[in-house]
Amino acid sequence: MENKRTELKVSAIRNGTVIDHIPAGNAFQVVKLLNLDESSRQIYFGTNLDSKKFGKKGIIKISNKFFELEEISKIALVAPSATLIEIRDYEVTKKGKVHLPETVEKIVKCFNPKCVTNIQHIPTKFKVIEDHKGNMKLFCKYCEKTMAKENIEFN
Ligand code: CTP
Ligand code: ZN
Repeated sequence: MENKRTELKVSAIRNGTVIDHIPAGNAFQVVKLLNLDESSRQIYFGTNLDSKKFGKKGIIKISNKFFELEEISKIALVAPSATLIEIRDYEVTKKGKVHLPETVEKIVKCFNPKCVTNIQHIPTKFKVIEDHKGNMKLFCKYCEKTMAKENIEFN
């Protein structure tokens, strides 16, 4: 019988960040919000991959990139289950879940067209809250409207 190779490992990276356990449906969104589609770095991208924990997951590996807090907050907003893994000289040097910040400033637009932040181009400020069902929402400190996750648009 012919022996078939059933697994081909995606290359390890030398230095950089792996974003693992992204909900499969949000992997392209993460690419977009981090502007990876415009990056000239080496990037591996996979989605709808089998995962024991999630059923299906997405993964992104970016060479020579280590994320700042603001970028990590963005990832947490769309992919709260994500794990960030830092690789240095081929070794995993840091691994942890992303965390939602208590407040989100500047990076998200308010969905209310009448909000002063949309009229006068003032930097936005939201409080991160949870509704009674445990869904993450953003409360605008200017117009006091509450925005559901589906309405989040990044600046
Ligand atoms: N990784 C990589 N390059 C390296 C080392 C690791 O791209 N030089 C990737 C692996 O492919 C994996 C992730 O970083 O997706 C985490 O690595 P590791 O902790 O070694 O993998 P696992 O033990 O499989 O982690 P887990 O069970 O938490 O998914
Ligand atoms: Zn507002």
